[in-house]
Amino acid sequence: MGQIRIDTPSRSYAVHVGAGLLADLGSLARAANVAPGRVHMIVDAGVPGEVVARAADALAGVGWRLSRSNVVPSEADKSLQTVHRLLQEVAGAGLERSDVIVAVGGGIVSDMAGFVASAYRRGVSWVCVPTTLLSMVDASVGGKTGVNLRVGGQLYKNMAGAFWQPALVIADTETLTSLDEREFRSGLAECIKHAMLGAHAGDAGLMAFTRAGLADVLDRRPGPLGELVERNIRVKAAIVGDDERELAPSEAGGRALLNLGHTFGHAIETIDADASKAPSGFWPVTHGEAVALGTLCATRLGELLKTVGEGTFDQVRALVGHAGLPTTAPGLPGPEAVLERMAHDKKAQGGKLRLIVPSGPGLCRVVVDPPREVVLRAIEVVRP
Ligand SMILES: NC(=O)c1ccc[n+]([C@@H]2O[C@H](COP(=O)([O-])OP(=O)(O)OC[C@H]3O[C@@H](n4cnc5c(N)ncnc54)[C@H](O)[C@@H]3O)[C@@H](O)[C@H]2O)c1
Repeated sequence: MGQIRIDTPSRSYAVHVGAGLLADLGSLARAANVAPGRVHMIVDAGVPGEVVARAADALAGVGWRLSRSNVVPSEADKSLQTVHRLLQEVAGAGLERSDVIVAVGGGIVSDMAGFVASAYRRGVSWVCVPTTLLSMVDASVGGKTGVNLRVGGQLYKNMAGAFWQPALVIADTETLTSLDEREFRSGLAECIKHAMLGAHAGDAGLMAFTRAGLADVLDRRPGPLGELVERNIRVKAAIVGDDERELAPSEAGGRALLNLGHTFGHAIETIDADASKAPSGFWPVTHGEAVALGTLCATRLGELLKTVGEGTFDQVRALVGHAGLPTTAPGLPGPEAVLERMAHDKKAQGGKLRLIVPSGPGLCRVVVDPPREVVLRAIEVVRP
């Protein structure tokens, strides 16, 4: 079992990682000075009932009164409408300013529960209990919360939200047993991203560990899986701690480095694809699958811009493939359409794209306004 400290200017808190931690949720929250009278749980409908019951028992066991909202997660309903409904339910439950929201679920639920916590009575504490691999290694840590917006019929990812750090994160790796294979593999996309950034966070060996341990992790062996989760959180913690609000100048990289693959990925995730050209069920892709495809585009862009040598793309593509993630997106519209969607991404500044590319083993950098033709060529690598 590991404990990672997240130190940001707005808040310091602990992330606990281990198998079976859920039973200690109440006592760990108490130890972290979370001391509400009442707790409102915001629960992902995909989490098995016995897991939710374990969390609820642990919270009730330390004497807290519970109320609960359920969320069926989807990107379409990761919306202000759902947040409005949740705020009404929290208010209806009578939560006071000193009370606490506990999110139990994947990244969609934690993004919305954190946003609800940031807004309810101008901010209440929240505890995050991530139950997907992706939310453990990424979404639960760092305080970015929010929802998608629908504008002119298009979904804009994470366009409204707040930085609102949790008071505590409990990543019980046992909860991953019930996660379906596709969602489990989706989480590995963010792990590959972190491995490509490891040297920025003092873990240059993370890529070698990820490659060597992949088979064990895919078998969900507790030891290697726990180590993977912990080392990934440490990478995110180090990068977020230095630049909580993503304000570092482009040259420094900062938190923006964590967007590796995401500007391409968000476009792939939200674009209207021709599903008839892909195997059944391929579209819509999961967030993690989109990030994997986006990371491949970003790596190819790095090769084309010569920030890394030829051959880097082949190595990353092999790893993505071994992780069981897609390396091409059949039915993806042409690169012009993808680039058009990328321009709407909130990481664009002054109309200029800011993209993250690999620049060495475990290292990435920001490129501002890369030549259009080169970006279009980079997108081509994920078109079959
Ligand atoms: N805030 C951040 O820093 C950050 C970082 C990365 C991703 N995100 C966001 O996270 C979201 C993706 O999160 P995700 O990959 O967890 O997807 P998700 O929230 O859609 O969850 C995936 C699926 O797994 C189910 N599920 C959850 N826990 C389960 C369990 N223990 N057993 C069985 N099924 C379970 C859910 O019901 C859902 O159907 C995206 O919206 C993305 O934008 C946020």
